[in-house]
Amino acid sequence: MTVTIVGSQLGDEGKGGVVDLYGDAADVVARYQGGDNAGHTVVHDGEKYKLSLVPSGAVRGKIGVLGNGCVVNPETLFDEIDTLRDRGLDPDVRVAERAHVILPYHRALDGIEEEEKEDLAAGTTKRGIGPTYEDKAGRRGVRVGDLLDPDTLRERLEYVVPQKKALAEEVFDKETGEAFDVDHLYDTYREYGERLAEEEMTVDCGTFLQERIDAGENVMLEGAQGTSLDIDHGVYPYVTSSNPTAGGATVGTGLGPTVVGDGEVIGIVKAYLSRVGTGPLPTELGGVEEQTPDYDADEGADADEEELATYIRDEGGEYGTVTGRPRRVGWLDMPMLRHAARANGFTGLAVNHIDVLAGLDEVKVGHSYEFDGEEIFTMPPTTEQWGRCEATFKTFEGWPDVDWAAVAEDGYEAIPENARTYLEYVSDELDAPVYAVGVGPGRGETVVVENPYE
Ligand code: GDP
Ligand code: IMO
Ligand code: MG
Repeated sequence: MTVTIVGSQLGDEGKGGVVDLYGDAADVVARYQGGDNAGHTVVHDGEKYKLSLVPSGAVRGKIGVLGNGCVVNPETLFDEIDTLRDRGLDPDVRVAERAHVILPYHRALDGIEEEEKEDLAAGTTKRGIGPTYEDKAGRRGVRVGDLLDPDTLRERLEYVVPQKKALAEEVFDKETGEAFDVDHLYDTYREYGERLAEEEMTVDCGTFLQERIDAGENVMLEGAQGTSLDIDHGVYPYVTSSNPTAGGATVGTGLGPTVVGDGEVIGIVKAYLSRVGTGPLPTELGGVEEQTPDYDADEGADADEEELATYIRDEGGEYGTVTGRPRRVGWLDMPMLRHAARANGFTGLAVNHIDVLAGLDEVKVGHSYEFDGEEIFTMPPTTEQWGRCEATFKTFEGWPDVDWAAVAEDGYEAIPENARTYLEYVSDELDAPVYAVGVGPGRGETVVVENPYE
């Protein structure tokens, strides 16, 4: 069977930790979208691993697959594999031949366009994600399979590179170097192809995964980013360029929707909100310069709110795994979660970070929005409309800071009562049971209510 892990908010909900938790029962962990824009943290044997491309399960000896819906930077891929090997692990990573390759000009253009876009910039990770998906849709991309075939690689590069060079030089008035040089790219990426072939890393993803499922094995589909960063269902244009929603798990692996739908789809929820990047955020507390729209720390910032935001940011370690940027934080946004529950069809929830909110007198959630004088319960379809929404808050009594490791051991009933009230509210509103509750960053610091593979 399959278990699909999906971020229900704006990324960094603790997906890596949940993949790790349930991954024990999985034989294969496959990513279905995104690339090295993701930053997934896994703690194993007291060691912290920060992975941006290699599927989280690879730390624990599972086969990790990068599905056809991913965009793969071979440099990052081999760096991560080599680093894991240096740390004594032996990751088994396979890459779909249909996945697209991030080339150096994609990264360069990502940076150039972000500068150019000003108010429309999403605050990307500058990993070349958007430009690579653009070329995929424009049918001028280079796929992983092409790296194994020198003639095809050469032909693809000779077509596309002069266009990219002209774009950078003539439209954006930038200087270009070897990132835009066909011969250099050909030599470098041909070598990556050789290593992929030598290590027998490439697969026909759908066939590979289906054969495993037919043999009775368990497959985990690891989403990156989150629902509100989805190019279709998120807050366009402040989104990533792929589909983190559960539908992406079928398109991005080659497994049929009935196969994925036969399994479980678990929504990962952070008990508050965090956001790296720009765009509106109705439940935001305080702000972060260069990310919060029209934010000026010296002007009109509410001191109590700023203090609370700083407290949550520091307690939760809300600094980007990939970029180190401070994350924007806010209260839980229920319209965003109702939208996610519908778009993904969650069969269960993992709610993380309830320990971070411990010790506050009260905990708020944005229960609904006031939008043009009306109360609404889900996200409106355009980001301009979302920006006009004002959250209507519901207040919960806070819960105490306790020995969370002991809570994790003792089970759900050991969670402080007020925190359980909060969890039950979320579960009722989303009409999905709570499968797990994160009470700390460590592997043992999760209350497991239900294991989807059992
Ligand atoms: P992902 O991108 O969704 O995999 O999440 P990240 O790894 O980027 O960010 C989540 C961060 O929160 C990591 O540093 C995790 O170790 C940490 N984390 C995950 N779950 C919990 C939790 O329940 N409590 C606390 N305090 N930290 C958590
Ligand atoms: P994980 O998997 C949080 C955000 C970026 C930016 C927008 C587009 O760790 O949850 P991109 O580089 O994808 O073109 O950037 O999406 N973003 C993320 N935010 N977590 C992530 O991944 C993210 N991946 C991209 O900050 O606003
Ligand atoms: Mg992350």
